[in-house]
Amino acid sequence: MSHFLVRRDDLRECRVAESDMPEIGSGQALLRVDSFGLTANNVTYAVFGEAMSYWDFFPAPEGWGRVPVWGFAEVARSEAAGVEPGTRVYGYLPPSSHLAVTPVDVGGAGFVDGSPHRAALPSAYHRYLATDADPFHRPDTEQIQMLLRPLFFTSFLIDDQLDDDGLATRGPVLISSASSKTAIAAAFMLSRRDGVELVGLTSPRNAGFVEGLGIYDRTVTYEAIEALERGPATYVDIAGDGAVRHAVHSRFGDELAHSMAVGASHWEDFGAGEGDLPGPAPTFFFAPDRVVKRSEDWGRAGLEVRVAEAWHPFSEWAGGWLETIPGSGFDAVRAAYLDVLEGRVDPKHAHVLTV
Ligand SMILES: NC(=O)c1ccc[n+]([C@@H]2O[C@H](COP(=O)([O-])OP(=O)(O)OC[C@H]3O[C@@H](n4cnc5c(N)ncnc54)[C@H](OP(=O)(O)O)[C@@H]3O)[C@@H](O)[C@H]2O)c1
Repeated sequence: MSHFLVRRDDLRECRVAESDMPEIGSGQALLRVDSFGLTANNVTYAVFGEAMSYWDFFPAPEGWGRVPVWGFAEVARSEAAGVEPGTRVYGYLPPSSHLAVTPVDVGGAGFVDGSPHRAALPSAYHRYLATDADPFHRPDTEQIQMLLRPLFFTSFLIDDQLDDDGLATRGPVLISSASSKTAIAAAFMLSRRDGVELVGLTSPRNAGFVEGLGIYDRTVTYEAIEALERGPATYVDIAGDGAVRHAVHSRFGDELAHSMAVGASHWEDFGAGEGDLPGPAPTFFFAPDRVVKRSEDWGRAGLEVRVAEAWHPFSEWAGGWLETIPGSGFDAVRAAYLDVLEGRVDPKHAHVLTV
């Protein structure tokens, strides 16, 4: 089987490697990875591979990592009761041709990978959903699903938390990396609420695109943050850029009601130049923790239904402007990864890869 590997201590170094096909024992199944999306989110998995254990999902040779991706796979072989060969599933995958799993909690909706090495990792990443029972799934929108679904889930939870905490209407909500898919999905949902004012913070090269989306009330480039009107505000930080964070906190100071640290799309400037921050300490937003909370409140099925209901209007809207860049084979995976890593992907484009 083939794998796309990234050097853990130098994310620009990457290679394709081969290994023997794993033996499938009793209770196990072999998935054949079909296709997946690649965005800045996957780069963030690599950036925090060590710190947040993202490298531990799909082990790799010493010093190398397999960057997790979201996509579709097919059960190629199965020695697990209730898991039929040919079943198509959506879930968290390695950028490899195959993945051996140990299905548990098997049912019509799919299964959970109970492999021992994953047991200590967040459970939100372990579920493989059978496409024919999945309320999200539509065969004609698989590309959009691979790209946007994991991000949308986060965005749904951000929108939900801001509303739940009374922050959505407490002055403008400022969102950095406003051109990112995660920001766009959050802004799409927030913009549908009454009384929400959205400010999209972005780089000059992406300002026209952000403006054209029509979901932010205002588009402001990073350089112009210090000209924003002072007053109560909430910051949703998807760039993770230390200098941008410093600019927002300096401008709003104690009037900043909340500073939500969501992402690190500006991975090379993550935390850099932040210095002493006026205002509230940034709070890390980790989607799997919020999934646990809302699953307790609404039940896991209740959460899935709410997310699926919100998903369809968003995916229809996004499908109207998002252009996918298809790629096939591991050389295409490597080229796409380097494009995303270096921030060379135009925000209206996104890579979808088949291996
Ligand atoms: N905490 C959580 O649970 C969670 C969950 C999902 C996603 N996230 C995070 O949200 C972030 C966005 O992910 P995404 O997949 O939505 O991103 P994306 O759509 O691929 O984002 C693209 C945008 O990010 C900025 N960017 C990307 N690479 C860059 C680079 N190398 N240098 C400078 N700017 C760069 C640019 O925006 P601007 O020019 O507008 O800055 C670019 O238009 C990621 O860090 C991801 O990990 C966090």
